[in-house]
Amino acid sequence: MTAPKDFNDRMLSLGLARVSEAAAHASARLIGRGDEKAADQAAVNAMRDQLNMLDIKGVVVIGEGERDEAPMLYIGEEVGNGNGPEVDIALDPLEGTTLTAKDMPNALTVIAMAPRGTLLHAPDVYMDKLAIGPGYDKDVVSLAMAPAERVQALARARGCKDSDITVCILERPRHEEMIAEVRQTGAAIRLITDGDVAGVIHCAEAELTGIDMYMGSGGAPEGVLAAAALKCMGGQMWGRLLFRNDDEKGRAKKAGITDLDRIYARDDLVTADVIFAATGVTNGSIVAGVKREPGYLTTETILMRSKTGSVRRMIYRNPAK
Ligand code: FBP
Repeated sequence: MTAPKDFNDRMLSLGLARVSEAAAHASARLIGRGDEKAADQAAVNAMRDQLNMLDIKGVVVIGEGERDEAPMLYIGEEVGNGNGPEVDIALDPLEGTTLTAKDMPNALTVIAMAPRGTLLHAPDVYMDKLAIGPGYDKDVVSLAMAPAERVQALARARGCKDSDITVCILERPRHEEMIAEVRQTGAAIRLITDGDVAGVIHCAEAELTGIDMYMGSGGAPEGVLAAAALKCMGGQMWGRLLFRNDDEKGRAKKAGITDLDRIYARDDLVTADVIFAATGVTNGSIVAGVKREPGYLTTETILMRSKTGSVRRMIYRNPAK
């Protein structure tokens, strides 16, 4: 699907960068303060204020939660000033609330925008995820393969030994078996405590980050955001929603999902051209975190457009309030 003409992604992308920068600025003073909620709230408020200045008729499709559980940036909230194209917005004002509260690496503010109806309305359930970077044949690995098979297939495709592959996985008890299986191949594992949007993005810049493949389950909303990033940077990703109970299945049905077992490829999660911005809150391997100098705050933002595959890294210095 090609984007409609009024989706002027060149101009809108700069506005999007401002939105993610504002959220990072706002959460900066809460880095390392042990208060996840306050850090998240600061980012939400700032992101919403900035978003409402943009010339768009936006609807939040990936947001802070259902309307009854999130007063701001809830799913279905209309955002923007109403003068512009109809767009879907996926956002995570603070991806890595605990990382921020503990001043650990790779906390980001994240937002993506695409024409209306082109981002999967993923319910707040888990998603089984698998991602690799660009340059590989289509479907060289798959969710149907066992973790060890994925390592072996990727090593064959890269022309290296299994032990030259590095896999990124969220450190969770539910991943113990997966971790053990990957270890059996001799591959290295970068365990992360949170932040699987960054985990997936790492695959797109394997030389820089040292990560070849991401696997494991994490939030489905984060899966859509990660797919948007990979669509801009190149790379393949697959996701399958995971349901723990009927309530979660009900959430999916409410979001319009009928095939609960479907495996979504990257372009099923994001079906048209998308723009994506993420700003570092804490230091990370994709972008630097917020720097505080006397009187100033400096942020780094990665801003990308899938239409052109352009990736900008923008440094922004602004007087601290
Ligand atoms: P928050 O920033 O909302 O705390 O999410 C962090 C995160 O690590 C995501 O990146 C990931 O998708 C999800 O939580 C994993 O969920 P869980 O902590 O339940 O395993």
